[in-house]
Amino acid sequence: RSAVTEQLLSRIRDIPDHPEPGILFKDITPLLNDASALRAGVEALADPYRELGVDHVVGLEARGFILGAPVALELGAGFVPARKAGKLPAATIEQSYDLEYGTAAVEIHSDAIAPGSRVLIVDDVLATGGTGRAAVDLVHRAGGTVVGFSVLMELGALRGREKMPDVEPHVLLSV
Ligand code: PRP
Ligand code: MG
Repeated sequence: RSAVTEQLLSRIRDIPDHPEPGILFKDITPLLNDASALRAGVEALADPYRELGVDHVVGLEARGFILGAPVALELGAGFVPARKAGKLPAATIEQSYDLEYGTAAVEIHSDAIAPGSRVLIVDDVLATGGTGRAAVDLVHRAGGTVVGFSVLMELGALRGREKMPDVEPHVLLSV
């Protein structure tokens, strides 16, 4: 493992039985709290995309906002919030996705991504892949091109990447 990988891993905190019994929650707040780890993480999320002409970074509410906006700055791109349904004020396009029980939906503003724009999606975790899949579909429906999907952590056992055979995720940590 690289030094950066070790540094980031050392700043992920395991919280047993959160938010419910039997779930081992991966808490990224120690990483966010550490200036050096935060910078290293943001730079590593951006690195593969520096020469790819990214116009917009889409960050997924809520934890994808924290990482996505500094990645956008790093790439000289604009930031587009993908919010949970009902939060954005102007006209939106919405994409629903499956949760373990029931469904959820994310939205972007209809005019946020001009047709032909090159878009990088950023989030903290790839788990079942429902959230990432919804984001990819939203960008496509807006007429954008998905340049990549960059995430801090992949929970590999949940096989989320199988939901996005069309986009190779860039993952900093596999846990
Ligand atoms: C978590 C996480 C990812 C998503 C991954 O978000 O931040 O966005 O789940 O899971 P999936 O691959 O199974 O879709 P969550 O909606 O729990 O909330 P938050 O980001 O607002 O904390
Ligand atoms: Mg999230």
